Amino acid sequence: MREKNYFVCSKCGYESVKWFGKCPSCGEWNTATEFKAEAARKGRASVVSLQETLKSAGNVKRLGTGFSELDAALAGGILPGQVLLLGGEPGVGKSTLALEICNYFSENGLKALYVAAEESADQIAVRAQRLYRDGLENIMVCPENDLEQVLDLLDDTYSLLVIDSLQTMYSPEVGTYPGSILQIRTCAEKIIEKCKQLSIPSILIAHITKSGEISGPKLVEHLVDTVIYFEGERNTELRILRTMKNRFGPSGEVAIFEMTEDGLKQVVNPAFYDAEDQLPGNCLTCAVEGSRSFVIQVQALVSRTKSNMPRRVSNGFEMTRLLLLIAVIGRHMHLPIESHDVYVNILGGLKITDPGIDAAVVGALLSSMLDKQLGRTALIGEVSLDGSLKRVHRMKSRIDALKKIGVGPIIVPKNTEFRDSNIQKVYSVQELCKALGVS
Ligand SMILES: Nc1ncnc2c1ncn2[C@@H]1O[C@H](COP(=O)(O)OP(=O)(O)OP(=O)(O)O)[C@@H](O)[C@H]1O
Ligand SMILES: [Mg+2]
Repeated sequence: MREKNYFVCSKCGYESVKWFGKCPSCGEWNTATEFKAEAARKGRASVVSLQETLKSAGNVKRLGTGFSELDAALAGGILPGQVLLLGGEPGVGKSTLALEICNYFSENGLKALYVAAEESADQIAVRAQRLYRDGLENIMVCPENDLEQVLDLLDDTYSLLVIDSLQTMYSPEVGTYPGSILQIRTCAEKIIEKCKQLSIPSILIAHITKSGEISGPKLVEHLVDTVIYFEGERNTELRILRTMKNRFGPSGEVAIFEMTEDGLKQVVNPAFYDAEDQLPGNCLTCAVEGSRSFVIQVQALVSRTKSNMPRRVSNGFEMTRLLLLIAVIGRHMHLPIESHDVYVNILGGLKITDPGIDAAVVGALLSSMLDKQLGRTALIGEVSLDGSLKRVHRMKSRIDALKKIGVGPIIVPKNTEFRDSNIQKVYSVQELCKALGVS
């Protein structure tokens, strides 16, 4: 059979077996690049017993990163051949984190290859100088963006590969500029193939788009084993690392770091609240992200609007959920919140995806609107469209975390199993109002 070639749009990654002048997907002209279709492998396919594979896999050791919090978020560390995609906004600390992991490997006698496609070796050295004093002898820096040359360098004497960054790498085989969808995809595929072959773990640093996604084709996220996002506010030192996908452990895990003068420091027991000073507009709760629970403080400001279009600003809490809660307060509590400007902030710069903090957001909004201090009262629960309060997962660990710091009473949904003199159960947001003394 004659081998058929295929064409890929260098702008959007659209594939077709036929040549196209104008891309049917993105509408761009002259972007079709021809590729050779890989011939099917000849010979018989082989099989292997899963039991046997399991025996040898059982002996594979995970490698530590030097940060116990990160190891825990990665279900115990990095596996040989594991490919991690590390995404984050400019300046959040991606290169710093990767260099610190290389330093840990180097200190333990393991050689790391740091491909600095964005910076010169001198610039990396300046960063390394800021972070450590010694233990750098096994970090080999390669200021190169030609992927073929980098892969030629990589051999089994290395124990870690860092690509900084994937968007600046360039494969001469693909006739497009670095950062194009086709380049990103081809480079990722080639790196993954080589690293899996040599059983070397790799960290691929990736830029993110304005909407907060890793730039390049979504396919890259499918190709890699683990996708990590590094988040943080520009004006705070707090950095949150979140595993969005992990083939070798649970996803949604988080690790908290602080960017200090001496580099990144992990924060083992972070405090995102100020339980002592509770002015109106504050409400305490416990959020669960991955397997970790954090006591957090939700802040809200509700003020009469001067325009026809009330403002809604949310920091750390999903905007669509905030709009839903505003509608629930207006409809089920009969309060004129819809004609007010609403601002919500999660103290400490955390981004919370857990719906279990809904009740606390409602509490903070009511507290601000009605100028009522909630003190050490904490709220847990998800708010439904019908105004009822729903139980969320890990209720016990949330209640325990709040009790541990002496917070109470704790208001929870009616169907929560636990009984305690400190726990008050409510069915709906109307009952919540009564419990808070704001109805
Ligand atoms: N002396 C210092 N003290 C404290 N923080 C510093 C110091 N020097 C640099 N930083 C922090 O390190 C950050 C730079 O980190 P890094 O270069 O690792 O980020 P990055 O995510 O790789 O950025 P880019 O996307 O631009 O490559 C700066 O934004 C700053 O917050
Ligand atoms: Mg960088």
